Amino acid sequence: MCGIVGYVGPRFAAPILLDGLKRLEYRGYDSAGIAVLNQGRIEIEKCEGKLENLLAALDGRTVPGFLGLGHTRWATHGEPSQTNAHPHPDCTGRLVVVHNGIIENYASLRQELLERGHSFTSETDTEVVAHLIEEAYEGDLAEATRKALRQVRGAYAIGVFSVDEPELLVGARLFSPLVVGLGQGENYLASDIPALLPHTRRALIVEDGEVVALDRQGVRVWTLEGKEVHREPFHISWDLEAAEKGGYPHFVLKEIHEEPEAIKNALRGRLDGERLSLSEVEGLDLSQINRGCIVACGTSFYAGLVGKRLIEEWACLPMEVAIASEFRYSCPVIDPRTLVILISQSGETADTLAALRLAKERGALTLALANVMGSSITRGADRVLYLQAGPEIGVVATKTYIAELVVITLLALELARRRGLLTKGQIGEVIREVKALPSKMERVLEGEEEIARLARRYADRSSFFFIGRGVDYPTALEGALKLKEISYIHAEGYPAGELKHGPIAMLDPEVPVVALATKGAHYSKIISSIQEVRARKAQVLALATEGDEDIEADEVIYVPDTLEPLKPILSIVPWQLFAYYVARERGCDIDKPRNLAKSVTVE
Ligand code: AGP
Repeated sequence: MCGIVGYVGPRFAAPILLDGLKRLEYRGYDSAGIAVLNQGRIEIEKCEGKLENLLAALDGRTVPGFLGLGHTRWATHGEPSQTNAHPHPDCTGRLVVVHNGIIENYASLRQELLERGHSFTSETDTEVVAHLIEEAYEGDLAEATRKALRQVRGAYAIGVFSVDEPELLVGARLFSPLVVGLGQGENYLASDIPALLPHTRRALIVEDGEVVALDRQGVRVWTLEGKEVHREPFHISWDLEAAEKGGYPHFVLKEIHEEPEAIKNALRGRLDGERLSLSEVEGLDLSQINRGCIVACGTSFYAGLVGKRLIEEWACLPMEVAIASEFRYSCPVIDPRTLVILISQSGETADTLAALRLAKERGALTLALANVMGSSITRGADRVLYLQAGPEIGVVATKTYIAELVVITLLALELARRRGLLTKGQIGEVIREVKALPSKMERVLEGEEEIARLARRYADRSSFFFIGRGVDYPTALEGALKLKEISYIHAEGYPAGELKHGPIAMLDPEVPVVALATKGAHYSKIISSIQEVRARKAQVLALATEGDEDIEADEVIYVPDTLEPLKPILSIVPWQLFAYYVARERGCDIDKPRNLAKSVTVE
């Protein structure tokens, strides 16, 4: 996730671009840059790190010019650095591009462009777009952009301008947001509405597969094939704070709603139809590996519990899961034949980093799953699988948990493939179902009102139990953690079968039990646990599979059916929403819960 801003009009572009970038910095801050057309020449200023570094480098100096583009980066391809910062010029320096998204076929495009004599200055996927437009340009920038983008696979929102059409800004979108702001004799391009708000409240959404051209007078929209589209502008009624959260009252809620997109993003570039294509682990010698160990903390640890199940089930590789803070103080049996998988959305968790160091000292093969590009864990591990979830601003993990589950699922399939334990057909079947998850998750999100109503009804309780078996057990743990973290209610996640070995003594009519009772291998067992709980007069909030009419509980939330190993990806969503609405009812600081930090960098 990066931020794009563009301006064409009678005012100096640079201050407008810099102000827009400040409002979009929540989308990434690995680097920032602007390009302005100044008397027939493109002037580019860019810096690694936050926007403040760029402002310091400019030191109050304004780059003159009335047309420009700005970019704030969340790195995906190429480390955060000045060279990889956008905007990126073509070979001639006559046009410049900014991009948000991932060009999936960039490696082959880059190779072809190199063979045709283009030279690259960055490691980004974006730069191929600049060179493709350069090749396609025959005096019409919008047409050249359409032509170039027809060769591109993946996701993008782009902005481009050229010295050859000095009053024109071109934008395009496919699966990454882009909006046009309409002013009086001036127009704007932006990834998100906050960048537009100081200037205009009239806007126009660019839809997937469309190209727009903006000059001072107006805007034209086409499909990629060149068919002109008529689009009515709309009025933006949000205030600035609401706009930064996409209209949601909290980042946490916005990020829960981004989860279907997080699944698609985690898959981006890793599938070829129904075939796995995990380039990150390509060429990795696994022949000597005889066991594995997943190390992580908190929510990432729970993703690890799911991962262990999938890897053991599909790849038949014995796996251990360790809490990172305990790992190095236990006597971990780690040697060069162990695959150590470290999961950390931030990539900076001190305990997980210590585990990485220990694993390396013992000669283990290390693989990191992380969201933040260039974070410490990604620099230390042998290989990295990025979550590709975009920045998560809410302190508690929501969409990054979903992305962790998706990526570990792909990794488990890859290990099974390498070990010859799943056929192409079996892998294809799982992948088909993984691809169906975003739309199934949208259906879960449609139940939000019902979950909010439930949350309001139970928000005054002081203790909850979450129970589940098999793949539902990690969901019980994560559901309880979410409730603790943002609503400050005591909650415990338990394997359902363990309840009778002690915790059942705590149950009474005031302690609700969330029972994860999806249809699957353990269904009849969890139903028995529900009976035990109800016999103690505790209220049961059940999560069941759509169509299950037999379930007996005080409240039932339904989720669509999916393959058993994929159930955790859907089953957690209602409990994230539940925790959110309970916290709201109790007036808690949801985006910044007390005592918590996004990256726990101390032991
Ligand atoms: C998640 O909501 C928590 N705040 C916390 O448990 C977190 O998952 C844990 O600190 C690990 O963080 P990491 O994924 O950044 O390593």
